[in-house]
Amino acid sequence: MQSILVTGGAGFIGSHVCDKLLFEGFNVVCVDNFNKYYDPKIKNNNIRHNLKNKNYKCYKADIINYKKLAKIFSKHSIDKIIHLAARAGVRPSIKNPFIYEETNVKGTLNLLELARINNVKKFVFGSSSSVYGTNKKKPFSEKDSLNNIISPYAATKKMGEELCRSYHNLYNLNITCLRFFTVYGPRGRPDMAPYKFTNLINNSVPIEMYGDGNSARDYTYISDIVEGIISANKKTSGFEIINLGDSNPVKLKKFISIIEKEVGKKAIIKQREMPKGDVPITYADIKKADKLLKYKPKIKIEEGIKRFVEWYKNG
Ligand SMILES: NC(=O)c1ccc[n+]([C@@H]2O[C@H](COP(=O)([O-])OP(=O)(O)OC[C@H]3O[C@@H](n4cnc5c(N)ncnc54)[C@H](O)[C@@H]3O)[C@@H](O)[C@H]2O)c1
Repeated sequence: MQSILVTGGAGFIGSHVCDKLLFEGFNVVCVDNFNKYYDPKIKNNNIRHNLKNKNYKCYKADIINYKKLAKIFSKHSIDKIIHLAARAGVRPSIKNPFIYEETNVKGTLNLLELARINNVKKFVFGSSSSVYGTNKKKPFSEKDSLNNIISPYAATKKMGEELCRSYHNLYNLNITCLRFFTVYGPRGRPDMAPYKFTNLINNSVPIEMYGDGNSARDYTYISDIVEGIISANKKTSGFEIINLGDSNPVKLKKFISIIEKEVGKKAIIKQREMPKGDVPITYADIKKADKLLKYKPKIKIEEGIKRFVEWYKNG
């Protein structure tokens, strides 16, 4: 049975990926540093149910620490890597760009080096729709240029993709970069709008709405993203960059009203200026994902928010 290393495996997307891989019978080696970007208790909860599984091993390790990573590779014969560990979030990257550069660029380079040395058969890299920045052409296609990046976070993701490309060109590694579009669902990050709004509306606390409510995000439900990641882990070869989105942007004001309906309370809205770094819209062209991965997102926003709020209320 193949062993898959999942970095960031205790996080939102990573923990779901580990669950799915274990369900499919893979050995899973999780690496996560359980940092305090948000409460590490949440990350412990995300993985607790797997700790007794003999096919699962979790290391508390920092991907910046090459030596520690190399030790993990010496203990396990890693066939494939799904690299999701990162500092995520656009706005904090403007406040503290250095930690983003360290984790997202140096950390990615460490893993690519270890992939090369250990003859890893496949490397899947979690990139982001934010690399499209303020591009005007919609939907965003993988062929579009990336000259309108407006945050250090997005810049580090583009850098990660370029490191992946160079490792493919130099060493012929099979590498797929997946550009995720606003992922939401159970275990969702507490710093992201779906969780923040649900929590505040539920507690009758005012929410800050940035801009006039007409900005839009291509919200993508977690199970669809996981399907795309697992499929990329199996199906692609060579070097590919592939969007994983819902291809159905939802305006912020509509998004808030869907949450209001599911929570059963009206939001108290405080309008604020759009913060620096936030893009007006994200919108994925998913034709390439369909062609290469047979990726077809299934969960519409109304159903996804319903499931998310159910999880928020019942755990
Ligand atoms: N959630 C989204 O909407 C979204 C959108 C686009 C891209 N992404 C990317 O997907 C990946 C997963 O995102 P997520 O939403 O699950 O975030 P998350 O913060 O829940 O998960 C990331 C995990 O990586 C770990 N980590 C961070 N720095 C580390 C380090 N130096 N060493 C080891 N572990 C470290 C964190 O502790 C965390 O558990 C990230 O690469 C993110 O940039 C997410």
